[in-house]
Amino acid sequence: MRKVRWSPRWSKVLLFVLCLAPLFRLAWRAWNQDLTANPIEYITHFTGDWAIRLIVVTLFVTPLRKMLHLPDLIRFRRMIGLFAFFYACLHFLTWFGLDKFFDFREILQDFVKRRFIIAGLSAFLAMVPLAITSSTGWIRRLGGKRWQRLHRLVYFTGIAAVVHYYWLVKSDIRLPLLYGTLVALALAYRVAAWLVARGGAPARKRTAPALPTV
Ligand code: HEM
Repeated sequence: MRKVRWSPRWSKVLLFVLCLAPLFRLAWRAWNQDLTANPIEYITHFTGDWAIRLIVVTLFVTPLRKMLHLPDLIRFRRMIGLFAFFYACLHFLTWFGLDKFFDFREILQDFVKRRFIIAGLSAFLAMVPLAITSSTGWIRRLGGKRWQRLHRLVYFTGIAAVVHYYWLVKSDIRLPLLYGTLVALALAYRVAAWLVARGGAPARKRTAPALPTV
């Protein structure tokens, strides 16, 4: 199959603008005083929605690049992941600053009373080391294997984010279920790929002629 190549600079600029579009939309609505009767709730939901969407997209980069033979997709994963973290930060700060107004007693009460907060915070905290070590410098510092192992935390983030959403909805569970199915599919792909690689390795060893080490 013919490999699709994108102009590296412009495709990244386009993606950057696309990932910022929700923030502009939110700012535009705020400017027009169009954030519904409960702006804090609106911002919390809006930023939470974008955080989980981008987490799911990040999880699908590897399956899509392999299945569609689009190796260049990998160049976009870091930016999408960082934007997921960005919207998760806005989401967390809205709750922490605007909703709870930095009132630590109320925040503690929330932890005890609302289990979905613990799931959300776990998802968010797991993203912090991923965002910090997302640069090429950190890949070099940690070494490819250790970096990859650390970045498997994104699977935990995906699961915890879905649990967070599932626990917080009162009746209509369709969206948390949809995200749950997508995360499960992305993880199932990795398990299948791992099983295939594990099953294929000894077979390759058996069939390949022993090469002399020169
Ligand atoms: C990766 C991290 C997180 C993701 C992906 C996420 C995602 C979401 C989603 C999708 C919603 C529902 C939006 C809707 O109904 O349209 C939501 C709501 C909410 N999240 Fe998060 N969240 C995360 C972390 C957190 C954290 C750290 C906190 C606070 C400590 C938090 C507090 C809330 C609250 C208070 C709501 C609204 C609940 C309600 O309306 O009753 N979230 N979040």
